[in-house]
Amino acid sequence: MRKIQNIYDDEKFFSQYKEMRDSKINANELIEIPTIKGMLPNLKGKKILDLGCGEGEMARFFIEKGAKKVVGIDVSQNMINEAKKHEYKNLEFKILPMEEISSIDDKFDIVFSSLAFHYVEDYYKLMKDISSKLKKNGYLIFSQEHPLVTATIKTQDLPKYIEKDGKRYYYLSDYNDVGKRLIDWNVEGVVKYHRNFETIFSALKESNLRIEELLESKASEEAIKIVAKYKNLNNRPFFLFVKAKKIK
Ligand SMILES: C[S@@+](CC[C@H](N)C(=O)[O-])C[C@H]1O[C@@H](n2cnc3c(N)ncnc32)[C@H](O)[C@@H]1O
Repeated sequence: MRKIQNIYDDEKFFSQYKEMRDSKINANELIEIPTIKGMLPNLKGKKILDLGCGEGEMARFFIEKGAKKVVGIDVSQNMINEAKKHEYKNLEFKILPMEEISSIDDKFDIVFSSLAFHYVEDYYKLMKDISSKLKKNGYLIFSQEHPLVTATIKTQDLPKYIEKDGKRYYYLSDYNDVGKRLIDWNVEGVVKYHRNFETIFSALKESNLRIEELLESKASEEAIKIVAKYKNLNNRPFFLFVKAKKIK
């Protein structure tokens, strides 16, 4: 396994990311969070593990909704420092890469993750580890960047899309070439991993995680009113959402 990336502890990356999140005008707040909240079951009395919990916003939401215990883990010291600024009973945050969750000595009703799985290299191992941390009939609920967004390898000096008559046409290549991608986002050379739908489905299936709900991000009228360019999400979705049950 390669060295685990910790880009959120790069000060330039982190300050730009934090500014974007603090502004509240971003695709997380306007699209991702409302969609994934709508996929959650009743949280009363549940034990929940949040992978790549970031500043802990969702972890706190789970406690507010009646969860019995929530553990948030993240590879970034910066993120865990932010998360620990709010003290909640039965809520614990720790620095831990999700590649090492087998070291957590507990089982959960729900494993949750918001926009972090595309940073993990070995998807099959990740699903296997998650499955071993879930109780039978427990749920894995996650979002990640959509395969149509992560696919194209930028080797050419091409624009991301062309626009004609107010509509965006995106380039797509390398879809079935699953693996590492280098992206310029806040800083140059952020590592992400692309998987096609076939890989996502088979990694979950191999770990006895049966997909019960799958959503692709769309922008609501209200979101488009706030950020007009979100209308392009209806040409190419940005996020993928999955809810899967551990069946054995
Ligand atoms: C886009 S942020 C999302 C944070 C939070 N889930 C949210 O939605 O607000 C991605 C998070 O994943 C974390 N992350 C990236 N790779 C990770 C890994 N291998 N193990 C644990 N956390 C990781 C980052 O440090 C960062 O906090």
